[in-house]
Amino acid sequence: MDLGIAGRKAIVCASSKGLGKGCARALAEAGCEIVMNGRDAAVLEAAAREIAEATGAKIHAVACDVGTEAGRRALLAACPAPDILVNNNGGPQPKDFRQITREEMIAGLDANLLTPVALVQAVIDGMAERGFGRIIDITSSSVRTPILGLDLSSGARAGLTAFLAAAARQFVDRNVTINHILPGVFDTDRIATATVRMAAMKGVTPEQFRAEREKSVPAKRFGAPDEFGKLCAFLASEHAGYITGQSILIDGGAFNTVI
Ligand SMILES: NC(=O)c1ccc[n+]([C@@H]2O[C@H](COP(=O)([O-])OP(=O)(O)OC[C@H]3O[C@@H](n4cnc5c(N)ncnc54)[C@H](OP(=O)(O)O)[C@@H]3O)[C@@H](O)[C@H]2O)c1
Repeated sequence: MDLGIAGRKAIVCASSKGLGKGCARALAEAGCEIVMNGRDAAVLEAAAREIAEATGAKIHAVACDVGTEAGRRALLAACPAPDILVNNNGGPQPKDFRQITREEMIAGLDANLLTPVALVQAVIDGMAERGFGRIIDITSSSVRTPILGLDLSSGARAGLTAFLAAAARQFVDRNVTINHILPGVFDTDRIATATVRMAAMKGVTPEQFRAEREKSVPAKRFGAPDEFGKLCAFLASEHAGYITGQSILIDGGAFNTVI
């Protein structure tokens, strides 16, 4: 299917690795011009080069912390009139909620609630004036089903989902949509790191922990960042203008529910 977004400009935050990179790749395959982002300039440059060579897309690498005002300004300077915004960032590490400090709470809310909202505030009017806009937030399946130890992450992302629910309805008549993708477990660096930590907490090896976790997913495997990216690209496509304010799970069937 032609997604109808060749030539569209996209900012994909936190995209030098993992799910963000999967989104950048899929949008590049659809012919978009992309601003990719990450804090480690060398890793980001390598990822940008890899995607540009594979797809022929125009990629701009902007190394900055999206959680800072200066970082967001740098992203918007590289792409002042984005058609597509993919909100992504690092997430808080697992921790017993009773031990989370006030400073950690504020940092978590800043990263996963205030930062994406600030970018939406900056881009949405321009999208509406131009008659096309697709905003996609990477949140988590933990917005819908609790994950022990990820309370701060879940709370911030549920807050983001609720915060943007009215805006999603306010702008859809001008062909600007806001949707959220809720990943289950995907094969990324973050999951590899978390696996080591969680395995140690359970007293098993990371390999044993991973095998157990894979077995618990009906698909019997973790997701691939590229299949995550394809869903993102569809939501960013010209065909998705009638989908807004939705939270779409992609989790290999892990969330056990009828609807
Ligand atoms: N993977 C999963 O199964 C899963 C499930 C549920 C939710 N999530 C959420 O999805 C998001 C992406 O996860 P992932 O698994 O793709 O992580 P990942 O593999 O660790 O990749 C994270 C990416 O974000 C960049 N990044 C992190 N903090 C940044 C910042 N402040 N400014 C700019 N770039 C930043 C990293 O580059 P630098 O470190 O160089 O900045 C890297 O490119 C996270 O919020 C995670 O909590 C993931």
